[in-house]
Amino acid sequence: MCGIVGYVASSQRAGQHQAMDVLLEGLRRLEYRGYDSAGVATIADGRVAARKKAGKLANLVAEIEAAPVVPALVGIGHTRWATHGGPTDVNAHPHLGDGGDLAVIHNGIIENFSALKAGLVRAGESFDSETDTEAAAKLIGQFYRGEAAGDLTEAMRLAVNELQGAFTLLAVHADQPDRVVAARRNSPLVVGLGEGENFLGSDVSGFIDFTREAVELEQDQIVTITADEVSIMGFDGVAATGKRFHVDWDAAAAEKGGYETFMEKEIHEQPKAVEDTLLGRTDAAGRLSLDELRIDPAQLKGVSKIMVVACGTAAYAGHVAKYAIEHWCRIPVEVELAHEFRYRDPIIDSSTLVVSISQSGETMDTLMAVRYAKEQGAKTLAICNTNGSTIPRESDAVLYLHAGPEIAVASTKAFLAMITASYVLGLYLAQLRGQMFSEQIADVLADLHQIPQKVQHILDHADAIKDLAREMAQSPSVLFLGRHVGYPVALEGALKLKELAYIHAEGFAAGELKHGPIALIEQGQPVFVVVPSPHGRHSLHAKVVSNIQEVRARGAKTITVAEAGDDAVSEFSEQVFFVPETQPLLMPLLTTVPLQIFACALASEKGYDVDQPRNLAKSVTVE
Ligand code: M6R
Repeated sequence: MCGIVGYVASSQRAGQHQAMDVLLEGLRRLEYRGYDSAGVATIADGRVAARKKAGKLANLVAEIEAAPVVPALVGIGHTRWATHGGPTDVNAHPHLGDGGDLAVIHNGIIENFSALKAGLVRAGESFDSETDTEAAAKLIGQFYRGEAAGDLTEAMRLAVNELQGAFTLLAVHADQPDRVVAARRNSPLVVGLGEGENFLGSDVSGFIDFTREAVELEQDQIVTITADEVSIMGFDGVAATGKRFHVDWDAAAAEKGGYETFMEKEIHEQPKAVEDTLLGRTDAAGRLSLDELRIDPAQLKGVSKIMVVACGTAAYAGHVAKYAIEHWCRIPVEVELAHEFRYRDPIIDSSTLVVSISQSGETMDTLMAVRYAKEQGAKTLAICNTNGSTIPRESDAVLYLHAGPEIAVASTKAFLAMITASYVLGLYLAQLRGQMFSEQIADVLADLHQIPQKVQHILDHADAIKDLAREMAQSPSVLFLGRHVGYPVALEGALKLKELAYIHAEGFAAGELKHGPIALIEQGQPVFVVVPSPHGRHSLHAKVVSNIQEVRARGAKTITVAEAGDDAVSEFSEQVFFVPETQPLLMPLLTTVPLQIFACALASEKGYDVDQPRNLAKSVTVE
């Protein structure tokens, strides 16, 4: 939530950029983190120049183009996902302190802001906005003028020690035009290293156009960047060093590459995402070898229970993982929404493996669940797409997806990559624990390696799905049914339609229908049904076919996603989308794809922004 960028260059060297160009480019790349408003502050001629505007970044850019600010070499920029105070010009960041000489931007929630604000009002400060951030700006300003005696880093340090909650804060001051000071607690922040210029970003995409060298920060650290120096200290004032890393993807990977939208591009990148997730997972003898996990195999062998914690689409990937891991490893697997997990006193001990799944690696609910699990003595393993992000850093073990940057707010390629990675984990555990013969594991792996070309086949034959989406653009409600691994696919199909097309959509376990939801069915109600393979447990296929008949008998218009050659469903479907054959447990990697294409095409038909759906943000860094 909220994208943050900071920049400092030296006036002495040629080749550096204007702060405004760097900030706006960084915000363009970070806009997926929040797009309720955008704002920048630069320092030039001993003054803060702040501009902010409600709505998408384009509104701010138009305003700056109409009335350019004085060129500057230092600045901060913000794109907002509103928490405290609506998405208005006034509530947009930056917020000012120290009589307008200090500008502050913020990602997170300052939980004690009301008490702070009351104290600051008593001290003579007045507030313009409804935000929690403005309290932080005024507080830093007070310390700057008082106890910190004009030292911006010290003013930040004193202020953050008064704050409760989660925050990344960036500050610039008119008197200190050579630096940006930032602090981080439970919200993301990385430093980008340049030559005679340095950068800050919520993630590396904030500066990927300018450098691929970066530094990770730990929790509760303050960083001061000047053009030539990066100095880090803890909130206690003790100097610290950050961990340097190289970003292994370039700016082109975060561009649309000829597609109209990031979402279309990412849907089409799925064959490669699955392929890359599988890459390098076996040794010369064909055995799974997960060196990257950085956990003692003996510990994994002793696991008595797995608990998967995740949110949204990642949680649906966890549901698929449950079916596969329990089947292959005979270990009980529970799947829980991360924000529910730690408040219900779950039964965890040192033989529990808590597996978090997260594209961003920054989802606050999931991070808090991981921390809770660690406190309870569990081993933690992160399945994650974002190298160096907080969740894998704080986990005992990590399995990276290697799916490349996912920019569209609605997750697509990460979902397929998460499912693939959890299959790899399941097979690895089965191998370690001797639950499957090596031939059986090799057989599943061979079928997994066939998935990319099968996904490509679906993508190459998607016209009928897009036509249907256009026809159904005015549908007020769509239901999705599935059983077994088709159930989480149904949930994911419904989520995609809700978040992209703003249509009421619900996913149900097909067997649950008769226990209530079937009352929703009336003449013409569209129902998507994810049909299991007729080659799997035969009774399951037959039961889903019966469910199709039950809803049709009540007037539903049934659209099925079924395995190629499954003629039994055709006669009961208004329309069938066939996917290539694979093992029943692997079917989600194929059956999900038509549902993604459908939701994307339907939202585009309605003229909606599929990359940045309303009210959402890519990385949910508040609880
Ligand atoms: O970054 P994460 O995978 O932890 O994000 C979890 C959810 O916020 C995310 O999957 C969300 O549900 C997406 N908007 C789904 O498309």
